[in-house]
Amino acid sequence: MFDLIIRRANLPDGRKGIDIAVKDGRIAAVEASIAAEAKEEIDATNRLVSPPFVDPHFHMDATLSLGLPRMNISGTLLEGIALWGELRPIVTKEELVERALRYCDLAVTQGLLFIRSHVDTSDPRLVTAEALLEVKERVKPYIDLQLVAFPQDGYYRTRDSVASLVRALDMGVDIVGGIPHFERTMEEGKASVEALCRIAADRGLPVDMHCDETDDPMSRHIETLAAETIRFGLQGRVAGSHLTSMHSMDNYYVSKLIPLMAEARINVIPNPLINIMLQGRHDTYPKRRGMTRVRELMDAGLNVSFGHDCVMDPWYSMGSGDMLEVGHMAIHVAQMAGIEDKKKIFDALTINSARTLGLKGYGLEKGCNADLVVLQAVDTLEALRLKPNRLAVIKRGKMIARSAPRIGELFLDGRPARIDGGLDYVPTQK
Ligand code: FE2
Repeated sequence: MFDLIIRRANLPDGRKGIDIAVKDGRIAAVEASIAAEAKEEIDATNRLVSPPFVDPHFHMDATLSLGLPRMNISGTLLEGIALWGELRPIVTKEELVERALRYCDLAVTQGLLFIRSHVDTSDPRLVTAEALLEVKERVKPYIDLQLVAFPQDGYYRTRDSVASLVRALDMGVDIVGGIPHFERTMEEGKASVEALCRIAADRGLPVDMHCDETDDPMSRHIETLAAETIRFGLQGRVAGSHLTSMHSMDNYYVSKLIPLMAEARINVIPNPLINIMLQGRHDTYPKRRGMTRVRELMDAGLNVSFGHDCVMDPWYSMGSGDMLEVGHMAIHVAQMAGIEDKKKIFDALTINSARTLGLKGYGLEKGCNADLVVLQAVDTLEALRLKPNRLAVIKRGKMIARSAPRIGELFLDGRPARIDGGLDYVPTQK
């Protein structure tokens, strides 16, 4: 007797009508037809069942703070940083915890159960780190939260930044962050990459830097990040977030850079919603898209996963915690509209980002943790197109959220009908 069987599911790899059995919080069988019984069954006929979404790049200390203490008038990255600098000294731990927990609730309903969040360590009070470490413990039963010590104002740019970042790591923050393109000079940016990789190597921690989030083609800190990754033996444990300057770089230079990144096994994290919104701001026309070279990086074998980055904060007034919204934008900005392209984009929201986070037991194979999402879509392509409701969100074999299917009803003369999700057009039975 199994605890749960999901019947007749369509899987992201294209298999259709598959039964998934769960026992003791793990996937016990994935087969065409399982004859055994279970305490609970879910009918997933014509529904996609996926492992949960994984967001590899988020800012949970700033989320849902839109309008505090004022709106971002220019809508630029730099005004966003300045605005966050106004809010940060006056924000309380209680407010941060409350907003983060609210976001986590939203994430669960979207089937988003793994999040890597940056924590701004620039303010020496470190209430941000205190708050998110508390949130990490409180959400543990349903969300795996990784935290990155992120010197938002620059590692060398402010007096207390170096000590604050180290203190945050001592408090239990998991990953070393950085922002080399925001340091005062290229040289200080380069020095910050070296210093931060050394800290990570000494402590046995991963690295995840905001790197080259600019349209300046000469912002080449990713080269240093890859080289230092190799020098310190950190291959596969380092992520370069954003990398938007690669969009504007000279092609010859990129032909040397991408193999270096591949040698360092850099995890690449573009943030399509934010990149398309914030980059190209100094351009008149034509305006650059400002997202890194997703297709070229994937073709070179690099692990590319997409982040949400922001939801209703000083940088971005939109967002919903839905990683399919991120994937939808990625398809457009990267111009990856082919069938195989879209499958790669779906993987980038799930298995690739699980690899970026180093998750264990993630996936749909027998023996994996029974963390599953049932979507109101027949396959990954329809999921990316419709951003459909998450009918059931399952953590370790237990349902932790569910949504009713989205059904449209028509009352047109002579031809009443209902529309289930997207194109599945069902004439009303009389
Ligand atoms: Fe970010």
